[in-house]
Amino acid sequence: MNVENIQTLLQEMSLKEKIGQLTQITGEHYVGKIDGEMVETGPGYWDQLLEGDTLYTIGSVIGVSSAKATNMIQSAYLEKSRLKIPLLFMHDAIHGYKTIFPIPLALSCTWDEGILEKVAAHTASELRAAGITVNFSPMVDLVRDARWGRVMESFGEDHLLSGNLGGAMIKGYQKDSDGKISNEGVAACLKHFAAYGAAIGGKDYNTVDMSMREFFEYYGKPYEIALKDKPKFVMSSFNTFNGIPVTASEEMMKDILRDRYQFEDIVISDWGAVAELQNHRVAANGKEAAELALTAGIDIEMVSTLYLENYQEILTKHPNLLEDIDAAVLKILHLKNELGLFENPYVDEEKEKQVILNEEFLQFSKEAAKKSCVLLKNEDMLPIPKNVKNVLIVGPFAKTKELLGNWPCKGSFDDVISLPEGLQSLDGALSVKSYETLEECPQNERVQSDYIIAAVGERWDLSGEGHSSVHIELEDKQQELIREIKRLNKPYVCVCFSGRPLALQNLIDDIPALLWCWYPGTQAGAAIAELLTGKDTPSGKLTMSFPRYSSQVPIYYNEYSSGRPANDSSYSSRYQDCEVGPLFSFGDGLTYTNTKYSDIKISNSVLKDGEELTISFQVENQSSYEYSEIVILYIEDLVSKVVRPTREMKKYKVVHVPAHETVSVELTLKVEDLKYLNNSLQPSIEPGTFNIYINDLKQPVGTFNYEVETIGVRNS
Ligand code: IFM
Repeated sequence: MNVENIQTLLQEMSLKEKIGQLTQITGEHYVGKIDGEMVETGPGYWDQLLEGDTLYTIGSVIGVSSAKATNMIQSAYLEKSRLKIPLLFMHDAIHGYKTIFPIPLALSCTWDEGILEKVAAHTASELRAAGITVNFSPMVDLVRDARWGRVMESFGEDHLLSGNLGGAMIKGYQKDSDGKISNEGVAACLKHFAAYGAAIGGKDYNTVDMSMREFFEYYGKPYEIALKDKPKFVMSSFNTFNGIPVTASEEMMKDILRDRYQFEDIVISDWGAVAELQNHRVAANGKEAAELALTAGIDIEMVSTLYLENYQEILTKHPNLLEDIDAAVLKILHLKNELGLFENPYVDEEKEKQVILNEEFLQFSKEAAKKSCVLLKNEDMLPIPKNVKNVLIVGPFAKTKELLGNWPCKGSFDDVISLPEGLQSLDGALSVKSYETLEECPQNERVQSDYIIAAVGERWDLSGEGHSSVHIELEDKQQELIREIKRLNKPYVCVCFSGRPLALQNLIDDIPALLWCWYPGTQAGAAIAELLTGKDTPSGKLTMSFPRYSSQVPIYYNEYSSGRPANDSSYSSRYQDCEVGPLFSFGDGLTYTNTKYSDIKISNSVLKDGEELTISFQVENQSSYEYSEIVILYIEDLVSKVVRPTREMKKYKVVHVPAHETVSVELTLKVEDLKYLNNSLQPSIEPGTFNIYINDLKQPVGTFNYEVETIGVRNS
């Protein structure tokens, strides 16, 4: 349809039809519940199903999957709707649709934007084949508290990395640039705006309260960065922000999202969040809730139907909202047009079968899984030595196929490769036995085994939305299992699955080698087998710090400097009954490669405005593995007017290093990279000295000074 026709269509629409476009409901309203083809990701906000002509004004449907189901609903809708404006179908495919990739937190441990873009592109292909045109992903909420179940959906604790990885996924989903969507792509929805990851105590849906400095420098930054890749949608967050629910916040929606971050496209509420303004007790009834959300700038109401129930009254009071409503509807119509829905509202059910779970996607899922795993400890136990003949896998994850992680969308456990399946198919000569407990394992197999893998972790459905936990340790019986295995006096290692960092201080000395697998997705066992046997090397690095104990959260690498930095004294910023710092830090991760960094040079000792500083070095891979080395550069601003974090990650690079080769790496810093928000919350920087760290957070590799032309005086 050409653009002029869209404008004409808007003019033909009644006010009710326009409000319908701003309303999203579940598929159940059209065809009843269809098992396996519909998910509900929140509580019911409707007493009865919508009926009559209202049903045929609606703009979008949530949670329906499969070509058959979307076609069925689209056809029921188009048959009866007056203007025949096709429905959008929206879903949460946060790490794949049918082919499941590692959970987002795992993907972030690859640090590789190319991988995340491709994961998103493959996901988009499967979604499109199933008739889904909008994906509620990526989530770039910054996280520092592993008790929050949704850390599994995040990209970790660094704002820069989170924003960049979010941007990469947007590009992958939309398959075009500058806010356009190719025919094969889906609209990306960046979520949850904003600061949802800072819920107090890591308790889901809890209050968020923070300074605007903290927001603009950290929690808001990932959205600001990812918005540059122009997602079609932004989802508002459930939480309050400094006393105001975001769904009702003009400051968040207009001043920050629209004006400061320049977002021009569609804002959708979270599930039922408009109605929940009544639970927040800022609205006395549904009409007030709808009024607050509409005036704040929430374009589409998800699942509740308060806009439709109250629009006449609201518009009588706020006639100027008509203009905003027209603008929002126009954006939705343009999107439907860009997706080609007016011409092709249906999808080919045969094509869907060819697209989903195709070999290319499965192979890529394995690659992504291998690069997501993080080797956290290795006392020469991994890879499994070549002379090992009998491997015994023990633990709750020894045989399971439940390795997809939460929100596996349409992923099926039946399609998952388990750990023993992966090992066995990689090496037919290996005898692989697996048991959930040691008691189940016959005595002779224990005796025969020459290598044991403890397969432990936190069940997949214990993290994700609504799954905050106070206990983030490995459960007692799994800890006991590891100690029992130790007592067998055989070589053993531990592979751990989880959707969040776990607190392992009490156990770590009993684990000689630890491979953190997160939730790897459909190809889990195949990927892990290649790492365990040394066919490939682990290379992921953590993006979220691991606390020693549950009560050491929130914990993150870029803490502000303290007046009493942590040391041995009791008058210092530390817990007296716990070692200082995390058990494993942001950026930690081992390989099998024995890589050496050398010849580290900083191009200048002085950096001035408009200039660049180059940090160059050699990375030597002394092994026979070809792999990707993740190089991370931090700075430390020695003196500044506003207190700064002790370390700030400013640059990173994923460097391909062939076996036995040395690669030159260059990273550049500009003055812009050093800036922070001054007292007036404006980006600024004063002359002074900076330390540079590469990977190692403790030992600087060099120093430089920032100077201004007029010979600035420190802190002047
Ligand atoms: O997209 C999600 C969101 O992340 C949490 N609440 C439900 C939405 C739709 O499923």
